[in-house]
Amino acid sequence: MQDLIPVQVGLLGLGTVGGGTIQVLRRNRDEITRRAGRAIEVTCAAARDLDKPRGLPLDGIAITSDPLTLINDPEIRIVVELIGGVEPARTLVLKAIANGKHVVTANKALIAIHGNEVFQAAQERGVMVAFEAAVCGGIPIIKAIREGLAGNRIEWLAGIINGTGNFILTEMLDKGRDFETVLREAQRLGFAEADPVFDVEGIDAAHKLTILAAIAFGIPLQFDKVYTEGISQITQADIDYAEQLGYRIKHLGIARDAGDAIELRVHPTLVPRRQLLANVMGVMNAVLIKGDAVGQTLYYGAGAGAEPTASAVVADLVDVVRTLTSDPENRVPHLAFQPAALSNRRVAPMDAVATAYYLRMHAVDQPGVLADITRIFGDLRISIEAILQKEPVPGEPHVPIIFLTHRVRERSMNAAIERIEALESVTGRVTRIRLETFA
Ligand code: HSE
Repeated sequence: MQDLIPVQVGLLGLGTVGGGTIQVLRRNRDEITRRAGRAIEVTCAAARDLDKPRGLPLDGIAITSDPLTLINDPEIRIVVELIGGVEPARTLVLKAIANGKHVVTANKALIAIHGNEVFQAAQERGVMVAFEAAVCGGIPIIKAIREGLAGNRIEWLAGIINGTGNFILTEMLDKGRDFETVLREAQRLGFAEADPVFDVEGIDAAHKLTILAAIAFGIPLQFDKVYTEGISQITQADIDYAEQLGYRIKHLGIARDAGDAIELRVHPTLVPRRQLLANVMGVMNAVLIKGDAVGQTLYYGAGAGAEPTASAVVADLVDVVRTLTSDPENRVPHLAFQPAALSNRRVAPMDAVATAYYLRMHAVDQPGVLADITRIFGDLRISIEAILQKEPVPGEPHVPIIFLTHRVRERSMNAAIERIEALESVTGRVTRIRLETFA
């Protein structure tokens, strides 16, 4: 088996994950060869800055500043795209596909926004585009859903799919550190995106949720339909009140089959503290999936970093090499379902989504105020689960009041919040955080 000619691979991008991929391929060469049936060798890598010290031996690898050198090299069978971002990654990947190369990518933005186009091009050319590393770094979540859960009807999935956001919320909870300081540390540690707005405003999580939902439900990639809310408005007070009520705030991506439509949403969420998801801390990722046959399954691990992400890239390389000789029709479809069988199910508008809620408001501490607020809830048929009124601060006329509600459609909650904010006895805006129990 080892005598077969190695499969040649070209790397687009020689940053953290590119370096990790070279290291893992070299260190585990024998095991990888035994698994794939052929040795896998990186023979060329394209990097923007040729003089940058890489801290790893690059012997046997031609380094070029021109990506087309490897995309046009007839000896290279697989192109690994680790540039990130939409362009020039999209153009280069399409060019590699047109040249008959298989592609492995860690690029979540590319797949979430242009995946439909990329997969169609790949299908027409009979090549594979593998993207395990695009979602949750080292957790084999794409393979788990696409193959391991193929017997199930997926009911919902919910995940901590951005490590930076989870790190920030964890540090705020454990150490009482403020949002800005923790974000700067995440950037220094190197797991935040180049533009950290992508992490804290939920865009990175929305990219990943788009991909997970497509393979879970057999729908096209629809990034523009994901409701996206970040964590930049979460305060220390909300984290503390949630704890006092038995919950923890997590930034979740949630996709749910709601019968008449699919829900696609990323937002901060109160989760019961006893839930495993609530105990995923720091930079770690986890995805909880409910299948009708298997019940709930949980996938946990490192969602970023050189070798965890390289672990997914190399697994994809092994998959591609194993199928080099199979007919394109006999490969696992890119989006889990056969391309002609993808469904056009409606994505629910956010105001039609039903969740429970945590609400925090500031009201004058006098008789009748609570009655005014609860009347509004009653009028809109919103049922209250719990109320927490905090001690007044001396000299401060307003006290924080926290409500937990039962499940209600977002449009009813929007109407209630509008009416509560219009009350003279309530000052400022009402803070609203959705709550899910995953019971
Ligand atoms: N910025 C991402 C995160 C890296 O924090 O999860 C992996 O996609």
